[in-house]
Amino acid sequence: MSPISRRDLISSGLALSTSSLVARSAWARTAALLASAPDAAAATALAPREQLLFDFGWKFQLGNGTDPAKDLGFGNTQEDFSKTGNFKFARVGYDDSKWRSLNLPHDWAVELPFVWDDTLASHGYKPLGRRYPETSLGWYRREFDIPASDAGRRVAVEFDGAFRDVFVFVNGCFIGRNDNGYAPFRFDITDFLAVGQKNCIVARVDASFGDGWFYEGAGIYRHVWLTKSDPLHLGRWESYVRPKATDGEAVNLELATVVVNEGGNFEKAAVGWQILDAAGKSVATAEAPAQVIDVDGKVSFAASAKLSSPVLWSVETPNLYTAIVTLKSGDKIRDAERINFGVRTVKFDADHGFFLNGQQLKIQGTCNHQDHAGVGAAVPDRLQAFRIGVLQGMGCNAVRTSHNMPTPELVEACDRMGMMMMCETRQMSSSPEGMAQLETMIKRYRNSPSIIIWSIGNEEWHLQGDDAEEGAKIAATMARRCHELDPTRVVGAAVNGDNEKGVSNALDIVGFNYVMKFPDVFHKEHPTRPIYGSETASTISQRGCYQTDKLRNTLSAYDVNHTEWSQLAEEWWTFYATREWEAGGFAWTGFDYRGEPTPYGWPSINSNFGIVDMCGFPKDNFFYYKSWWTKEPVLHLFPHWTWEGREGEEIPVWVHSNLDEVELFLNGKSLGRQKVARLSHVEWKVRYEAGAIEAHGWKDGKLVLTEKRETTGPITSLRLTADRATLDRGGIDADGADVVVLTVDALDAAGRALPTAQNLINLKVTGEGAIIGVGNGDPNCHESDKEPRRSLFNGLAQIIVQSTKTAGTITIEASTVVRDKTVAPAKIEIATKQVELKATVA
Ligand code: GAL
Repeated sequence: MSPISRRDLISSGLALSTSSLVARSAWARTAALLASAPDAAAATALAPREQLLFDFGWKFQLGNGTDPAKDLGFGNTQEDFSKTGNFKFARVGYDDSKWRSLNLPHDWAVELPFVWDDTLASHGYKPLGRRYPETSLGWYRREFDIPASDAGRRVAVEFDGAFRDVFVFVNGCFIGRNDNGYAPFRFDITDFLAVGQKNCIVARVDASFGDGWFYEGAGIYRHVWLTKSDPLHLGRWESYVRPKATDGEAVNLELATVVVNEGGNFEKAAVGWQILDAAGKSVATAEAPAQVIDVDGKVSFAASAKLSSPVLWSVETPNLYTAIVTLKSGDKIRDAERINFGVRTVKFDADHGFFLNGQQLKIQGTCNHQDHAGVGAAVPDRLQAFRIGVLQGMGCNAVRTSHNMPTPELVEACDRMGMMMMCETRQMSSSPEGMAQLETMIKRYRNSPSIIIWSIGNEEWHLQGDDAEEGAKIAATMARRCHELDPTRVVGAAVNGDNEKGVSNALDIVGFNYVMKFPDVFHKEHPTRPIYGSETASTISQRGCYQTDKLRNTLSAYDVNHTEWSQLAEEWWTFYATREWEAGGFAWTGFDYRGEPTPYGWPSINSNFGIVDMCGFPKDNFFYYKSWWTKEPVLHLFPHWTWEGREGEEIPVWVHSNLDEVELFLNGKSLGRQKVARLSHVEWKVRYEAGAIEAHGWKDGKLVLTEKRETTGPITSLRLTADRATLDRGGIDADGADVVVLTVDALDAAGRALPTAQNLINLKVTGEGAIIGVGNGDPNCHESDKEPRRSLFNGLAQIIVQSTKTAGTITIEASTVVRDKTVAPAKIEIATKQVELKATVA
C-alpha cells in the first residue's frame, strides 16, 4: 500500500488541520472530496467513519425510582418489555415540550440541594440513593436526523461514561443497559434507525446505586458520540502501536488491529499505517497484506515499522506521534482512525525505584477523584487540562485515577502535558463485569504514553484479608489479562495491608496505602519486588484557614492535621524521598472533592484531603510539595498578616522553602535566620502587631527570594482574573464547550488582596457565554453551584464560564454590596474565537 496522501486523510475525516475555519460536518467534507474524485466508483462509495459529537440539544427531566406514574409510566405493567417497540417515550413526536433543554456533559447531582442525612455523607449530602427516588433518576431524550445517505452504514451510539444503570431506547425499542458508572459503553443501533428520517433516542439514568464512597455525580456526565462506519471497519479500540526498543537509536513499532465485517458479503481488505511526527510529517509507513474477512468475521492484522532516532515522550517534553490506521479494499478507504502514541521506556526496579527513559525519577503523584467545583462530575474538556496544570504547578508528575477508569479527555491531557498516570479500574473482580471493565480500560487507553501502571483495584478488605485465597485468584486472573492485552505495562494495586497475602502475589509492583511500617519490612523480606506508595498522606487542611476548630468544622492549613490512618505531607514525603528503592507515591489527594467529608460530617460537604481546594486554589502545603518536588527556588510565607483583635498574641509563622536559609522580619526587625532542613520547613512564633512580616531566602550565601504579607485594609474593589492559559490562547473557542476559569478576589485601597474576605459576590454574564458553575473551595459552604453569585472563601471564589458557538465577547461583571461603603465592581471581557467545530449530530 502506498503512503497515504493528505487527500486520503481529509476524506477520512482525519486531517490534522484544515485552512477553513468554517464549520462543516465531516460528512459534507468527505462527500465533497469523494464527489470530486476522478474515480467514479469512489464517488458512490460509502463515506468512511464519522464520529459525531452527540452532546448538544438534549431534553432532560427527573423521573422517579418508586412511582412509575412519575417515571414516564416505565415499569407500570408487566408488559413493558413484552414487544420490541413498546416504549412510546422513545418515539419521535412524544411530547417533551415541558422537559428542560440542556447540553451534555451533565451532572444533575450538583444541582440538587444539600440534605442533612448522614447516610448521604459520602455523596456530599446530595439526595441520591434508593431512599431518594424523586431525585435519583433522570431521563434524557433527543430526536435526531439520520440522512438518507447513511443507508448501508453501521451506526453506533457511544457513551464515554454515565452514572449509573443506564437503559437506552431508540425509536420505541429497548436497546440495552449498562450498570457501572465509569466505563464507556456502546450500542450498535443500525437496525432500529429510520434512514432519511427523524429518529429518537432516550436514556434513563438511575443513580440510586453507587460504586463508591465519594461523590459520583448523576447523569450523562461524559461525552456521547454517534459513530457511523462502513460495515467493513476497524474494531473499536482494537488498534495498538507498541514501541519496542532495538539496539541503537531506533525503535520498532509493533502495529496491530482487528478488522470486522458486518456486511452481507465476504470482503478482502488490507490495513496500512502511516506514522506522523509531532509536526505532522510522515516518518514511517507499514502495511499488512490483504486478507479475506468472512461475513460476520473478525480478522487480526499486524505489521511493523521502524522509527529511527525517535523523539521520546517524557514529563518535560511530552512528544507525541500519530499513527493513521487505514483499512482499504482495492483502492477504497473503508475505515480509518488516528492513534496518538509516544515512545518512552518505563522500568520499576526493586533496588532503585522508578526509571523513565533510563533516568531515575521519583513518582511525585497525587490521587484524584473526577469532580470539580461548580460542575461536579460533568467536567468540560478544557477543565481537565486546567486541573492537570494546577497539579504540575507544584511538581506533581503523576496522577492516579482513583478509584475508576478516567474520562478520555483526562488521559489525553496527561499525554499532551507530560503527566504520568496510574490508571485504575473500578471493580476488583474477575467476574464477567469486572473483566469487561478492565478490558475496556486497557484497550481504550493502552496507546497512551502517560499511563505507566494499570491498577486492578483499591483497598479490597475481603480480598486482602479473610478471603485472601479468593483475592489471590481474582488478582491473578486480572493481572494475566492485563499482560495479555498489554505486555508493556506493569500491574499494581492499592493495598492497605502488609501485602503478605491475598492480591499481592499477582502484582508486578507492590502498592502500599498509608501504613509506613509495612514497606520497610516487605522490602527486607522480598528484596526483588518493586514497591511504591499507591496511596499516602490524607493530610487534612483548609485553604486560608489557620485554626482547627471542631465546633466550626475548620482545619488549619499548617501541616499539622491528618487522620488516624494517615500522615502529614512532610512525614510521608520524607519517608518516600529517603528510600532509593521506593518508586515514589501518590498523595491522597491533589484536589479536594465532594463527599467523604473527613474528619467532620455535616455541615461539611466535601473532603479536606486536597493539596488544592475544590477550585484548584493552592493550600499552603502546595508549597511544601513545590519546594521538594521542583527545582525552582520556592519561598512561601504564611499565614496572612491580617489579624485584627489578636494584637500581642503569638502566631505561628511558617515558611515552605527549598533554599538554604530563611530570615524573618516583623515590621523591618529581624526575628532571626534559620537553616531549612532538607524535606522540612521553618517556623517562628511571632507576637502579632499590624504591619508586615517578610521572609528573605538565601541560597549559596545569596539573597534569592523575598516574600511579604501585609496587614490589609477594608475592601474597596473587586478583581476578576482569567486563567493564564486562556489569555495565552487569545480567547477561548466559540464551540459551545470551551471554558474560561475566572478568579474573583477583593482588594483594599492599596490594591492588596484581602485574605479573609467572605463577601457575597453577585455575577452577571452577557454576550457569547454563560456561567456553568461557581465555587469557592469552602468545605462548609452550602451555596448553590449554579446561581450567578458566590461568597468569597478566605478571599477567593471561582467562576466557570462556557462559550456559545458564536464568536464574540463574553463580559463578566462582579459586584458586592457592603453597608456604608462603595466597592468598585470588576469587569472582564473574554474574546471567543471562531474555530472549526467538531462534527455534531443534527
Ligand atoms: C483510603 C481510600 C480513599 C479515601 C482515603 C481517605 O483508605 O482508599 O478512597 O477514602 O482513604 O483517607
